Amino acid sequence: MHSHLSPYLLLSFLTIISLSINVPTSLCAKDTRYANCSEPFTCGSIKSIKFPFWGVNRAGYCGKPGFQLECQDNVPLITMISEKYRILLINPQVQTLIVAREDFWNNICPQNFVNTALNFTLFNYAVGIRNLTLFYGCTFFSGPISTFSSPYNCTVNNTDINFFYVMRNITIDPRLGSCNSSVVIPVFERAAQALETNTTTIGGAIDGGFGLKYLDLDSDQCSTCVKSGGECGYNWTESRFTCFCHDQPNAKACLTRPSYPFWGGNQANYCGYPGFQVNCQGNAPLLTIASTGYRVLGINSTTRILTVARQDFWNTTCPQYLSATTINSSLFSNSNTQNVTLHYNCPPPLGTTPPPNMFLCYPNGTATATTNYYTATDINVPNIGTCTNDVIVPVSQSSAQSLARNPPSITLEEALDDGFELLWTSNIDALCSSCVQSGGRCGYNPSSGSFTCYCADQPYASVCGNGTGMCL
Ligand SMILES: *[C@@H]1O[C@H](CO)[C@@H](O)[C@H](O)[C@H]1NC(C)=O
Ligand SMILES: *[C@@H]1O[C@H](CO)[C@@H](O)[C@H](O)[C@H]1NC(C)=O
Ligand SMILES: *[C@@H]1O[C@H](CO)[C@@H](O)[C@H](O)[C@H]1NC(C)=O
Ligand SMILES: *[C@@H]1O[C@H](CO)[C@@H](O)[C@H](O)[C@H]1NC(C)=O
Ligand SMILES: *[C@@H]1O[C@H](CO)[C@@H](O)[C@H](O)[C@H]1NC(C)=O
Ligand SMILES: *[C@@H]1O[C@H](CO)[C@@H](O)[C@H](O)[C@H]1NC(C)=O
Ligand SMILES: *[C@@H]1O[C@H](CO)[C@@H](O)[C@H](O)[C@H]1NC(C)=O
Ligand SMILES: *[C@@H]1O[C@H](CO)[C@@H](O)[C@H](O)[C@H]1NC(C)=O
Ligand SMILES: *[C@@H]1O[C@H](CO)[C@@H](O)[C@H](O)[C@H]1NC(C)=O
Ligand SMILES: *[C@@H]1O[C@H](CO)[C@@H](O)[C@H](O)[C@H]1NC(C)=O
Ligand SMILES: *[C@@H]1O[C@H](CO)[C@@H](O)[C@H](O)[C@H]1NC(C)=O
Ligand SMILES: *[C@@H]1O[C@H](CO)[C@@H](O)[C@H](O)[C@H]1NC(C)=O
Repeated sequence: MHSHLSPYLLLSFLTIISLSINVPTSLCAKDTRYANCSEPFTCGSIKSIKFPFWGVNRAGYCGKPGFQLECQDNVPLITMISEKYRILLINPQVQTLIVAREDFWNNICPQNFVNTALNFTLFNYAVGIRNLTLFYGCTFFSGPISTFSSPYNCTVNNTDINFFYVMRNITIDPRLGSCNSSVVIPVFERAAQALETNTTTIGGAIDGGFGLKYLDLDSDQCSTCVKSGGECGYNWTESRFTCFCHDQPNAKACLTRPSYPFWGGNQANYCGYPGFQVNCQGNAPLLTIASTGYRVLGINSTTRILTVARQDFWNTTCPQYLSATTINSSLFSNSNTQNVTLHYNCPPPLGTTPPPNMFLCYPNGTATATTNYYTATDINVPNIGTCTNDVIVPVSQSSAQSLARNPPSITLEEALDDGFELLWTSNIDALCSSCVQSGGRCGYNPSSGSFTCYCADQPYASVCGNGTGMCL
């Protein structure tokens, strides 16, 4: 079958594949903190802002102290040393902000005169900034001072006062005059020059804002976290970076998601091998083998070991229906396991002391308990009589040994919940590592039933490039 994928088809193919990379199939439990921090801050013209910023729709744990944002009437604001600043721009790539004094916005006569101040552990001035000094309520002893601008009028608290600006941050020589108040406000150097050439106004220069660098020492950690599919956060009580993942927080990054031969969630069936579909049921990643659901506890692609536990026996030794553990031997083999047989509905024990391997069930919520036992080759037990149902469930060798101790060092429930290992057959993904090395993503062609290496240009039979050249 030789046919070329149309560019459109290829594009949608690749889109589906790249989308599926972001679907954490193994991570089923939804951590609300992950969901909350995945919401960006959006206000006015400021969009898509995340860590280290928080506020409004983003909880405190999505950001760091000092980086709280507000949104008032569609105006994004940040407070630094008790003063509110209007945010004109945020560039997370280079960690810069452009802010303007909110109290001076469209108004050079505020009711309070407060200097611009920064917390230098978090922020610093960008280059290309000039400090203006604004003087209010001045009296000159021997005529106007040359560095001062011409006078402006201000009405502050219903009182008319004069107002001057100076293109530097200066203090006034007390021999020349005195002013009631002064404020230092940084502006961009180009705004200062425009002011000097009368091509802007003092209000225009101030409203143009000034540049800041913000210091976020966790930005490298954050990109590692984001690459692993997490959302950056911060533990305020412990003052340390936290990576919120779909299922739980991690110190650095989210655990790697299962890849080929596993598939599921939003992934299409050509992303994995038949029989390896993992779907979320409630909070658990679930794999179905021969109609029985298994909770996936671990996947090691290097050793091809899958750790699973019977979902129907999860946190119970008395499931509603009793079904056998049947493993598809063309896909899996047991690794390092021992069979435990659960005997249900047996005669009551003879002695007064119940044997350690006995357990009770109240079937379907009935009031009368049934007597049940578990046995294994290592568990030496007296004759338990004839029981109605036997179910074989594999457990790990170490769990079997713990159950065999007298008294047992773990409960039957714990042994079942610890799960058991399955080894998947190597021919299922034998070609995968060379495909990945050649820059491809492993997949499967359901119609031909063969391994497929999806590459940027087209799918190949084993590796990207023209080595094998088989088109889908
Ligand atoms: C500056 O920021 C640091 C870090 O958040 C904080 O510990 C400190 O209290 C801040 N200083 C002021 C004056 O706000
Ligand atoms: C402006 O003044 C502040 C103090 O208010 C100072 O930290 C800063 O270095 C000054 N910047 C320039 C460019 O003069
Ligand atoms: C300021 O007010 C004075 C009188 O109150 C007036 O003579 C002057 O023209 C005003 N200056 C400006 C720039 O409006
Ligand atoms: C204006 O009045 C407010 C409130 O009465 C006061 O806090 C402020 O200091 C006054 N401003 C000036 C410049 O006197
Ligand atoms: C004025 O600016 C200079 C840098 O040009 C700075 O070193 C100084 O601290 C500033 N002085 C005041 C009073 O803000
Ligand atoms: C700007 O205007 C002021 C008066 O409004 C004047 O004194 C000054 O010379 C002007 N500057 C330039 C560069 O034109
Ligand atoms: C912060 O750390 C403490 C102690 O490890 C933990 O109890 C708490 O849940 C953590 N908070 C967040 C938001 O991760
Ligand atoms: C897979 O198993 C090998 C050998 O036991 C181990 O070195 C490796 O860390 C495991 N990988 C994962 C992701 O657990
Ligand atoms: C186990 O089951 C009991 C009762 O059915 C329940 O109270 C408990 O929360 C369950 N524990 C877990 C970890 O699911
Ligand atoms: C466990 O029992 C199954 C039959 O249910 C059998 O196929 C398998 O080989 C047994 N495994 C071990 C380790 O004895
Ligand atoms: C529970 O009830 C169902 C029918 O409702 C029955 O099929 C099943 O065998 C019962 N389970 C047990 C352990 O008796
Ligand atoms: C296959 O790849 C090799 C080396 O990359 C190149 O020399 C050759 O021309 C390619 N053949 C085709 C048919 O594209």
